[in-house]
Amino acid sequence: MKTLLIVFHTHRSKTAEMADAVARGARRALVEAGAEDELRVIVKRCHEAGAQDLLESDALILGTPENFGYMSGMMKDFLERVFYPCEGRVEGRPYATFVAAGQDGRGAMTSIERVVAGLRLRKAHAGVVGLGELTPDVRANCEDLGAIFAAGLALGAL
Ligand SMILES: Cc1cc2nc3c(=O)[nH]c(=O)nc-3n(C[C@H](O)[C@H](O)[C@H](O)COP(=O)(O)O)c2cc1C
Repeated sequence: MKTLLIVFHTHRSKTAEMADAVARGARRALVEAGAEDELRVIVKRCHEAGAQDLLESDALILGTPENFGYMSGMMKDFLERVFYPCEGRVEGRPYATFVAAGQDGRGAMTSIERVVAGLRLRKAHAGVVGLGELTPDVRANCEDLGAIFAAGLALGAL
């Protein structure tokens, strides 16, 4: 069985709601494809997740608020903790990012991409940025992100 790992941090609630939507979309896609036995979806907050989780996963989706034009401190802490134990051991695995932001989001997205490029993960989706209040459209985009990863992994097409 393959594993999709979703790791996120939230200060208040928006990134957590986006993470819920990503996981919901992934699980729904598995049910629709009759592929529940093909993939497990694991959701962890940054402080709960570590190198072993990443090593045991087949794909990674990261979620963070944008803080001061960057990923959240907790996401940076997660990436700092996993970087050296995972360097050279996760190359080519697909990843994507979702960002909760007030009015921008690009700094959080690019800061994650820079670090993850060092792990040689493969960007498999443009990611989702949700600005301002969480809208139904952003929720749907998060569900689509999860569905694309789940279906792609289950079918061996990602
Ligand atoms: C300390 C702090 C810094 C922030 N910096 C930015 C920023 O640089 N760019 C931006 O678009 N939003 C910024 N925001 C807004 C948050 O990214 C936004 O409210 C986000 O939805 C919070 O997600 P959460 O509810 O999951 O914590 C900041 C918020 C806080 C509290």
